[in-house]
Amino acid sequence: MTELGTREHWGSRIGFILASAGCAVGLGNIWRFPTTAGDNGGGLFVLIYLTWVFVLGVPVMLAEFTIGRAAQSNAVGSFRKLAPRTPWFMLGGMGVLVGFMILSFYAVVGGWIIGYVFSSISGTIVSGLSPTSLGNYFELVAQDPLISIFFFFVFMAVTIMIVYAGVGEGIERWSKILMPILLVLFVLVIARGLTLPNAFRGLEFLFVPRMEDFKPDTMSAALGQAFFSLSLGMGAMITYGGYLKRHHNLPNSAIQVVGLDSMVALLAGLAIFPAFFSINPGVGFHEAPGGEGLIFTSFPQIFLQMFGGDVLMAQLFGTAFFSLILIAALTSSISLLEVVVAYFVDERGWARRNAAVIMGLITFLLGIPSALSNVAADKTFKVLGISFFDLMLLIANEYLLPLGALMISVFVAWKWGKKAALEEARTGGSVDFRLGELWFFILRWIAPFIIAQIIALKILSDLRGINVIAVSKEFVDNLQWVLTSVNAIILAGIVISGVYLWFVRSRKKTE
Ligand code: TRP
Repeated sequence: MTELGTREHWGSRIGFILASAGCAVGLGNIWRFPTTAGDNGGGLFVLIYLTWVFVLGVPVMLAEFTIGRAAQSNAVGSFRKLAPRTPWFMLGGMGVLVGFMILSFYAVVGGWIIGYVFSSISGTIVSGLSPTSLGNYFELVAQDPLISIFFFFVFMAVTIMIVYAGVGEGIERWSKILMPILLVLFVLVIARGLTLPNAFRGLEFLFVPRMEDFKPDTMSAALGQAFFSLSLGMGAMITYGGYLKRHHNLPNSAIQVVGLDSMVALLAGLAIFPAFFSINPGVGFHEAPGGEGLIFTSFPQIFLQMFGGDVLMAQLFGTAFFSLILIAALTSSISLLEVVVAYFVDERGWARRNAAVIMGLITFLLGIPSALSNVAADKTFKVLGISFFDLMLLIANEYLLPLGALMISVFVAWKWGKKAALEEARTGGSVDFRLGELWFFILRWIAPFIIAQIIALKILSDLRGINVIAVSKEFVDNLQWVLTSVNAIILAGIVISGVYLWFVRSRKKTE
């Protein structure tokens, strides 16, 4: 395969899976998932989230891997190669812009984690502080402009350094060693949380859907969270697929990465909520135990509980725990910068090192308003009634990523075509990929329809929220119910045909 020529490639299949999982698993799972679940009332949100993850996440991830590997290129170059002389490359261009945008606020949160690593070492956050002073400590890290910007800068600098070193050495090595250790620590935290008094309330919060939580924004919040957590919709997985050789099994990889990613999100939820509701018995399900500080204030309290109030142990554990979260955040942030860098290297002929440093610094500048917008409790830098940080998050997660995922589905199903797409997806598969038919069907008919609907409803609801259009709340609510009923019927159909195909497939294999 001479076309592969000098291009860098993943060392092994497991290296690719772990690197893609490293890209997917990050603050989206550990920080954003519990936060969004808390803000949206728990159980029902989690149910909808998991539905989107498996019904839309798996197919779109496979679509991205397939595009990237077929083209052996970055987000923009892939579309140029597969659809020459068409405007499709602009979809990749949008991905590059979204990469800047997400990284700019992602690295701010990454900075908070660094702040917590330092303070765990020095013991500030676990020295027997009361819950309120722990909350205040979050305010110190996140809301002091200088501290916040300083740690944000450090996080960006580390991200830049890893991308600077290149894909093979930088990304692969880290993911392999540290991800499993993080999982073990999570299991320990969960075990302690579940044995606290009243921990079952946390399980109830997380897993029992309550219909009264069904608000027009729930669908969109869950969809945005699904794509954000899986790193889909902006070409990150196209870029990673672009470093793949032909003999990898793509469908299995997509399923494994999605499975691992949602597992870590659920682990984070299980680590937080049982302990949270045990430590804060007075808090009701509707008081939204979320907020950006949720994990920062809760984890230190849990560590103290774990070691019966032994501050030194809690401190050691906290240091290890926040350090590993930091690594998880870095394996994601490098993927965001990598999308941008790969574009400038492949398409513009820049040197990798220059691209990493220059684009990293631009992202830092772009993120400064986000870093500052959590300063002071009333949130400065407000735009349209919400902070700059929240606005970036909303635009990226709930508008641009779903739009990107929609367009990627349309590209594969309507432009690239069934024959080419299925052939590429099947190449390297050891099994007869019969679910391919279902995959293609979802990309062609289901994903565009469902995603377009959710974006449209979100636009309506947001425009109503800022009084641009005058429709009643009841109208939006009712529309949501109608659409949801339609979706539920579609989804039931997909699940039934999926189970059927799966069953037929595995029987064929064993015969
Ligand atoms: N998925 C990562 C997380 O959960 C964040 C991330 C990395 C991302 N690359 C991305 C999100 C690309 C969207 C697109 O932390």
